[in-house]
Amino acid sequence: MAVAHTPWQQLPAEVHIAVEKRLGSAYTVQTSDAGANNGTNATLTLTDSTRLFIKGQFGRAPREFLDPVADPQDGSDWWGADWGPVDQLNEEARINPYLPAASPRVLWREEVADWHLVAFEWIDGRHADYRPGSPDIAATAQALADLGACRIPPIPLPTARDRWGYYCDRDVRHLLDGGGTLLHTDPAEVNVLVDAHARAHLVDWAWPAVGPGWINPALWGLRLVAAGHDFADAAAWASEIPAWAEATPGAVKAFTRAEARRWTDEADRGTYGADSLVDDVLAWADFWV
Ligand SMILES: Nc1ncnc2c1ncn2[C@@H]1O[C@H](COP(=O)(O)OP(=O)(O)OP(=O)(O)O)[C@@H](O)[C@H]1O
Ligand SMILES: [Mg+2]
Repeated sequence: MAVAHTPWQQLPAEVHIAVEKRLGSAYTVQTSDAGANNGTNATLTLTDSTRLFIKGQFGRAPREFLDPVADPQDGSDWWGADWGPVDQLNEEARINPYLPAASPRVLWREEVADWHLVAFEWIDGRHADYRPGSPDIAATAQALADLGACRIPPIPLPTARDRWGYYCDRDVRHLLDGGGTLLHTDPAEVNVLVDAHARAHLVDWAWPAVGPGWINPALWGLRLVAAGHDFADAAAWASEIPAWAEATPGAVKAFTRAEARRWTDEADRGTYGADSLVDDVLAWADFWV
């Protein structure tokens, strides 16, 4: 669902007052105008120079978490028809305590005037650069490898089949099953912050899932292709992630085809950034025979 971006300054006064009260400090605001952002987000700097990053969405309270009805074959899905941006933000907060140490922790949540805010530790870093030769690639490989070692969060999470089954050919859907690895599902450069110590931090856990660990590098590989790597080079980087060893060519083929269809749909819907990614995703899927 497309939701307009609301600059922090345009939030209702009640929100600003509640946040200032919560922080116990005045603050200055740096907003991001990155195109994909919806709802609101901002970096707040307190008078003692502490920073934090806030994401917010507007609307009804998050959905009470029910056991999902996950059967892509009958057209229903894990998220349900009334799933919205507030639920997504709630997901991001819910999974947060179980993420690898490098991912920023939730500091607090606040609900005021139908705005749902989640405050995160601030990461002093810049977006990863995936272009060939960038040192950020090895740093990101480490962050993805760390996911393989992460305990599965003890909360309901969609599986890889929930997420990609709809787009996957029926006869190979089972190849998405199994595996017990936490999946970020969107390891784009803008969702990886690299700090001054060359450590990569995965942010934007809005679409977590659990499934075969090779899906993390399969998704990352297409981002490397989009950043200018040739296929063999992207595949070689993917193979740096230990879980890649469990991937079979058939499973990677089935998965990357499903992801390509998903992005084709996103492009048709006008999702920000999808148009420029579609050709690379299709080509990455074609690479796997
Ligand atoms: N904890 C953090 N500390 C510093 N900067 C952050 C932090 N989390 C996110 N950012 C920055 O803010 C940007 C937007 O955050 P994020 O990716 O979480 O939200 P989003 O892109 O709005 O989500 P969506 O995918 O729904 O559009 C990131 O690309 C990153 O540059
Ligand atoms: Mg993002």
